[in-house]
Amino acid sequence: MTTAQESTGETAADDRKVAVISGGSKGLGRALVERLLEEGWRVATFCRAQNDFTRTIAEDRPDAFFWAAADLGEPQSLRTFARSVTERFGRIDLLVNNAGVLHQELFLTTAPKQIDALITKNLTAPIMLTQACARVMTRGGGGTVVNISSINAIRGYRGVTAYAAAKAGLDGFTRSLARELGAFNIRVNSLVPGFFDSDMTAEVTSTNRERIQRRTPLGRLGNVDEIADAVLFLTSSRSSFVTGQSLVIDGGITC
Ligand SMILES: NC(=O)c1ccc[n+]([C@@H]2O[C@H](COP(=O)([O-])OP(=O)(O)OC[C@H]3O[C@@H](n4cnc5c(N)ncnc54)[C@H](OP(=O)(O)O)[C@@H]3O)[C@@H](O)[C@H]2O)c1
Repeated sequence: MTTAQESTGETAADDRKVAVISGGSKGLGRALVERLLEEGWRVATFCRAQNDFTRTIAEDRPDAFFWAAADLGEPQSLRTFARSVTERFGRIDLLVNNAGVLHQELFLTTAPKQIDALITKNLTAPIMLTQACARVMTRGGGGTVVNISSINAIRGYRGVTAYAAAKAGLDGFTRSLARELGAFNIRVNSLVPGFFDSDMTAEVTSTNRERIQRRTPLGRLGNVDEIADAVLFLTSSRSSFVTGQSLVIDGGITC
């Protein structure tokens, strides 16, 4: 992991809760960073490179925001990231495994290296990060984990087999981990979004977009705030008796 670009600021000695959001520079991750900061959390995030958003927040809110470069393709480096967060903020109360990577290609022509990379980035990396963060949560008396899955985990779509396998794996991980961590007062849930507007869906062709809209009872793609609302529900006391579940937020496309 590269730490040279870590945002600067004083080590906070306060008791505000700490959220770790992977991939907080854009899309859903960025919405979660903004909304959790607004709600008074301290927030730590990583992605591969700083952008204007993370740079500005790091400058404006050094007491409450921590960014470091890390790559899902190197899952072991995420332990170093979790250690840096703990050194900086002293605790971890929430982990949202948000960062994900989509590569669309038909299965029969996908190179083994590509399959391996998709499983590593979308499944192994969040599992490793969860282990590092959950150990810290157990020492703090509890916490919450939300894994961002996809409707690709529960419905078949052409061209996304390895991504779908990884996301389905994440849902299985959620259920079994909830069994293990309930005794530590840690809740673990999956959020299963349908299509929503972000960089990830920016390349959807207009034909495919129309097809998605036609098949969606609500007649449109979602927006990041609607997905963030559901994540925040799973992180809040309003879901205090919910664990081991997968919550589908998709405008009805899978119903
Ligand atoms: N958009 C959809 O329609 C949709 C539907 C279902 C599920 N999802 C899931 O929702 C989550 C968020 O999606 P999104 O659409 O908000 O994605 P996005 O806009 O593409 O943002 C992805 C974030 O992850 C980071 N990231 C990407 N590759 C990374 C890597 N190798 N290492 C570290 N960070 C990396 C990106 O920053 P850098 O590129 O700078 O590293 C960025 O911060 C993902 O798990 C996705 O699979 C999305």
